[in-house]
Amino acid sequence: ADYETLLVEQRGRVTLITLNRPQALNALNSQVLADLIAALEAFDADETQGCAVLTGNDKAFAAGADIKEMSDQGFATMYGSNFFGGYERVTATRKPVIAAVAGYALGGGCELAMMCDFILAADNAKFGQPEIKLAVTPGMGGSQRLPRAVGKAKAMEMCLTGRMMGAEEAERSGLVARIVPLAELVEDAVKTATTIAEMAPLAVKANKEMVNAAFETTLTMGVQFERRLFHGIFGSDDQSEGMAAFVEKRPGKWTGR
Ligand code: HXC
Repeated sequence: ADYETLLVEQRGRVTLITLNRPQALNALNSQVLADLIAALEAFDADETQGCAVLTGNDKAFAAGADIKEMSDQGFATMYGSNFFGGYERVTATRKPVIAAVAGYALGGGCELAMMCDFILAADNAKFGQPEIKLAVTPGMGGSQRLPRAVGKAKAMEMCLTGRMMGAEEAERSGLVARIVPLAELVEDAVKTATTIAEMAPLAVKANKEMVNAAFETTLTMGVQFERRLFHGIFGSDDQSEGMAAFVEKRPGKWTGR
């Protein structure tokens, strides 16, 4: 499929999705959201695909929600249309999505990166929630996901001052999994995604689902959820194959069943 605001290509079992509004530093307007939902739904439904990478360009992952699109809105249209509500579909993606962030990830851009399963950052990445400078607040989960990632002190400071955090600080704080040289970012992310995409598909979904459960529930309930899913995966053909392959010192061959 062709998208107005995205480039989508398949590299083996990896879907590479590139935000493509460079003239607006990839600002996230409603067309980007519609395209992103369509691309992620197609990815999730495609059995040949195991992991996605979401990226921007060297200057910007995304410099936020599109300020020009929002500037004339009022309460009735924002609340009435549940503006940004469509982003729940992004986090509902059942296969992993890696954010490969270079340059600015601000406001909605930072929030979109945090909706992904983990973030790989180029050395020039800059994260921030500068909404307060526009006299508004985060609206795509930033006030909730940033404290879970970096703790209250840094999240509160960033939301209240709008200051940016560079790649080093972001890694130190737990916002990003790893820093990669800018020139190698996409290649590294696709390689990482390929590693994931070559794992047994049911185990990939189950691992993602249980780590995400850690942010939604108590420790006791979370551990119980993990154990049930762990027991359940012993009903899969790939579990028998995975353990047999280890014992026989050969690579496993997955059927996704
Ligand atoms: C619409 C944007 C944009 C945005 C950049 N542009 N960010 N358009 N929405 N969020 C546009 C600019 O208007 C400009 O278009 C072009 O992209 C290049 O941007 P410049 O500002 O000229 O680039 P530069 O000087 O390099 O500065 C980069 C920047 C700055 C520091 C990232 O663009 C910036 O501060 N952007 C806004 C960041 C921000 O506040 N994000 C949060 C948005 S609110 P023209 O046509 O002039 O060339 C948000 C919250 C969601 O995301 C929930 C709350 C409602």
